[in-house]
Order: sequence, then C-alpha cells, then structure tokens
Amino acid sequence: MKAVAVIGNPKPASRTRDAAERLAAALGLDCEVLEVAELGAGLLDRDAPHVTAAVQRVQAADVVIAASPTYKGTYTGLLKLFLDRFPTATGLAGQVAVPLMLGAGPAHALAPELTLKPVLVELGATCPAQGLYQLDSTYTSDSALARFTGQWGRTILSAATLRTER
Ligand SMILES: Cc1cc2nc3c(=O)[nH]c(=O)nc-3n(C[C@H](O)[C@H](O)[C@H](O)COP(=O)(O)O)c2cc1C
Repeated sequence: MKAVAVIGNPKPASRTRDAAERLAAALGLDCEVLEVAELGAGLLDRDAPHVTAAVQRVQAADVVIAASPTYKGTYTGLLKLFLDRFPTATGLAGQVAVPLMLGAGPAHALAPELTLKPVLVELGATCPAQGLYQLDSTYTSDSALARFTGQWGRTILSAATLRTER
C-alpha cells in the first residue's frame, strides 16, 4: 500500500512534515513526502511539467495525507494552489485521504474537518476518518496521534485496502 504526504507548509522540513510522517508510521504505511513549497513558482503556471508530475505522484498513492499548518483558521494558500491543480471530482477519485493540520492552540481544532476535508472530498477522495488536528508544542508527546490511530486506523487501512483490491 502506497502513501504520500503532501506538505503544504511554505517552510520545508517543518513540524507539519514531521507530524505527517509520524501519522504514516503509526498507520504502518511507507510514505513518500511531497513538499509543495519545492514546486516553487511553477504552482502559478498551469503548464509546468514538474507540477503535473507532482500531481501524478499523488494520484499514484493509495493513501494521501494532506498536511498543513493552520494559518488564519484554515489550511495554507500554498496547499490550495497545489490542490487547485487536481480536477474536480476525479482528481483524487478512489483514493483515501486524511486531512492533518497543526496549530499553535486549540481554537481551530475543527479546521481539518471543516476546511481541508471538504476540498479533498470535492476532488473525489474518500475521507473515512475525522480530520486530525495536533498542537505544534505537544504533538510529539501528547496522546492525540495514538487516540486518532486507535479510533480510525483500521477504518483508514480498510478503505485503502478496498482500493488496492479494485
Ligand atoms: C501566518 C500564520 C498564521 C497562523 N494562524 C494560526 C491560526 O489561525 N491558528 C493557530 O492555531 N495557529 C496559527 N498559526 C500557528 C501555526 O499554525 C503553528 O505554529 C503551526 O503548527 C506551525 O507548523 P510548522 O511548525 O510546521 O510551521 C499561524 C502561523 C502563521 C505563520
């Protein structure tokens, strides 16, 4: 089963990336990482071949972890620029997606569910689990990841297995 973590943080090698890799590991998934920031100005060019190739890399995965820091109550504009390159309804069709966001405080704990998940669903993804929100100051030591994988891990993996058997 293949997973890809799409990291929508303007800053590379971020805690957001680390959290996404920890989530993949906790689910027992080998995970390729795509740092959207590394696509650079090509994100603004609809014909940039390296961005098209990045879209295809994401589409080749069974599980897509869409990860972003929380900026102004929502996911980053950088991640949106990349997701806008996927066709509506078919861009992530049949793929399992997990929205993951990190934030500085608890005020936006529903942001992955209310802001990021709807975009993934709009692209055709199946999102069988709640969006995961983690605090940037405690995500390595608190129980949020363990609670999430305990509640949703099997559901995510079962949904992804159905895809691979198709
Ligand atoms: C422009 C900007 C806006 C932010 N807005 C929010 C916010 O609305 N809510 C929140 O909890 N944290 C907010 N933060 C804090 C980041 O979401 C938080 O520090 C994040 O976990 C950083 O992840 P990183 O270490 O991977 O960069 C904001 C940070 C920046 C730079």
